[in-house]
Amino acid sequence: MFLILNGAPQSIPEDWADETLLSLLREAYGLSGAKFGCGVGICGACTVIVDGVATRSCVVRAGDAQGLTVRTIEGLGSAEALHPVQQAWLAAAVPQCGYCQAGQIMLAVALLEQTPRPSATDVETALDGNLCRCGTYERIRAAIQQAVELS
Ligand code: FES
Ligand code: FES
Repeated sequence: MFLILNGAPQSIPEDWADETLLSLLREAYGLSGAKFGCGVGICGACTVIVDGVATRSCVVRAGDAQGLTVRTIEGLGSAEALHPVQQAWLAAAVPQCGYCQAGQIMLAVALLEQTPRPSATDVETALDGNLCRCGTYERIRAAIQQAVELS
């Protein structure tokens, strides 16, 4: 079994097949950007992009990612070449504690890839349910607007 992880094939060890995709990413591959929040698909802290769709990795069985394309925040940009959404996040000073932020950013990336010029309703619909206990929602909206302008 394998998946395409941040652009490169990566094997899914047989003994990880019944774990969650989130556990596979964090514990088997050492990619700790996606976070464990609720573990039941409610909070969005674990959001990654699977085949172009923002996906809560805590409710995906690792074995079911066989053959799929998975993108995590580690594959988004580098310190030298940030993704436009990351640039916008910095410019808008979005994060507070940071725990939810990888999930928020991956959600925004998926939104802007599907809808490059989203309406306010599109943004609200996309963000709905990705929780931030620090209440950074206004700055997330501002950053998405800035990312639209940057791209
Ligand atoms: S940890 Fe996956 S949705 Fe909360
Ligand atoms: S920045 Fe703290 S939970 Fe979102």
